[in-house]
Amino acid sequence: MSTPVVLITGAAGGLGRAIAKRFSQSRWRVTGTDVDKSGLHALNTQVPLDFSATADLRSAANCHELIAKVMASTGRLDAVINAAGVWREGTVAHFSEEDFDQVIGVNLKAAFYLSQAAIPHLMESRGCIVNISSDAGRQAYRGSAAYCASKAALNMLSKTLALELAEHGVRVNAVSPGDIATPMLDYQAERYGKGNPNAYKRELLSQYPQGREARFLRPEEIAELVWYLCQPHAEAITGADLAIDFGLSAGK
Ligand SMILES: NC(=O)c1ccc[n+]([C@@H]2O[C@H](COP(=O)([O-])OP(=O)(O)OC[C@H]3O[C@@H](n4cnc5c(N)ncnc54)[C@H](O)[C@@H]3O)[C@@H](O)[C@H]2O)c1
Repeated sequence: MSTPVVLITGAAGGLGRAIAKRFSQSRWRVTGTDVDKSGLHALNTQVPLDFSATADLRSAANCHELIAKVMASTGRLDAVINAAGVWREGTVAHFSEEDFDQVIGVNLKAAFYLSQAAIPHLMESRGCIVNISSDAGRQAYRGSAAYCASKAALNMLSKTLALELAEHGVRVNAVSPGDIATPMLDYQAERYGKGNPNAYKRELLSQYPQGREARFLRPEEIAELVWYLCQPHAEAITGADLAIDFGLSAGK
């Protein structure tokens, strides 16, 4: 079999970078995309990318164009990892349309249309899709309705696609991490921490069942699970939403 190809969205982000490194270590051909041009360039200096391109994935046309470019460059596609995402906080009563469209556009619409464009190529390779969801797709948090809704919808998109593609040998799963030490977490704490980002982070950790032992996830821990899900010996796993959150979403 020729070397498999993975496409990672949000590749310049904290988790996307870790996923790119993990697949590269296992000698996959890695392709990546992000809206952040300089971040993508920085990744290119750390991980040998077969192909990379900037794209704003909130548009269906951009998603289709990107997949066409990846195929023109690599000739095959075995896995799509939808890791692009944005966080916006605010109660429903005060949430702007701009923030709502941003959250739904990146967290849900991009995964929908990128999957749509990739389907024929994944059928060819009997490949897989992994959607990076969140504990916030499994349980509600006050003040983040749009984010929670986007991730809950992403989970159902994953399950529906898994059913639609099963007879073609294509698997689709969601991975739902708890809080990960990435730029997104720093952004959350800086923007919404009311001038005290450390207190914001302590508050997040206080919700974990580990109590004083609680810590943030490392992106590499999630990358390992994502990589595993794309292996042939994970063929029984499809339509799953796999929590990797220290039990945060298991209940109170
Ligand atoms: N960090 C966390 O605590 C956490 C927890 C649970 C789930 N997640 C999810 O993990 C995924 C990765 O997040 P991260 O922590 O690496 O965040 P990050 O901010 O480091 O990376 C996200 C990437 O998405 C890219 N992006 C944003 N808008 C885009 C657009 N319109 N088109 C294309 N790319 C775009 C950003 O440029 C960025 O590089 C996200 O889906 C996020 O929702 C993160």
